[in-house]
Amino acid sequence: MRATARAQPNIALIKYWGKRDVSRNLPAAGSISITLDELYTSMCVEFDAALPSDVLTINGVEDVSMLPRISRCLDATLGEHRDAARVSSDCNFPIAAGLASSASAFAALVVAADAAAGGGRDAAALASLAGSISGSAARSLIGGFVELQNVGDDIRIRKLCAAADWPLRVVVAVTQTEPKPLGSGDAMEISRKTSPFYSLWIEQQEHDLAAARAAIAARDFAALGTVAEHNCLKMHSVMWASRPPTIYWNSATLECMHTVRKLRSEGIDVFFTIDAGPQVKAVCTPDAEPRVRRALVTTPGVRELMATGLGGGAVVVAHE
Ligand code: PMV
Repeated sequence: MRATARAQPNIALIKYWGKRDVSRNLPAAGSISITLDELYTSMCVEFDAALPSDVLTINGVEDVSMLPRISRCLDATLGEHRDAARVSSDCNFPIAAGLASSASAFAALVVAADAAAGGGRDAAALASLAGSISGSAARSLIGGFVELQNVGDDIRIRKLCAAADWPLRVVVAVTQTEPKPLGSGDAMEISRKTSPFYSLWIEQQEHDLAAARAAIAARDFAALGTVAEHNCLKMHSVMWASRPPTIYWNSATLECMHTVRKLRSEGIDVFFTIDAGPQVKAVCTPDAEPRVRRALVTTPGVRELMATGLGGGAVVVAHE
């Protein structure tokens, strides 16, 4: 009745921003991401009939703010008549700061909960469960370049390219480690309801997805970078035009974008993407990584760099 799973966060290149069914947490459009390698969340789940209610610790400290989502995820996976669980989560990177910690957390949680209860579900079923709590978590079930598609009244994930088949690197420039003021779930609802650009954003998503799929199939770095930066800036434009506006960037975020654009003008293979937070993820080819690191570490406001390759999907690492 106890299992531990590990999952890595994923970074969307074509973003998910907006739901078509809030109660079921279904995205309004598809998305494409890369699953990272060295950053991870490890989630241990132990069911205990003697426990009065679920308990959660994050990096060794009891946490109540995340507990309702954790309990909802366990209910979705095993039904509401399950035993209470002791859940401990360990994460080797900042939480709730725009580094997709909820994606790795819920992907690891559904895999660990399923294994602790006897297992048997495949990645597709687990992705659908993880996605019902955090849309982006569905993509962390599998590795490499992953597409999340809307199909009927559910979601489906599929691998577009294995990590080893296009081994790009990601240099994350951390500009702030405090948790963000507004979670992505609430912020995307504000965008859907108030941003004049929202419908255009959803309308154009299929076009961006097609361009990204083609670039990935052809291993065309420049084409992937062009559509990924465009899609990222378009998503943030939707947020900026919302009422009230959602602005996740700080001045260092903008400085990092300039650094990346300057590097590219000098012939370096690099592009940026930014999620619901102030961190900048610079995606580059392996040979470009030293230059990218050197330029970002000296960019004003950058506090720390983390670098990682692309990795595999969520896995069970211990089972008793
Ligand atoms: O899955 P959520 O609710 O954490 O939302 C993810 C939103 C973005 O990270 C900004 C985009 C994405 O596709 O991951």
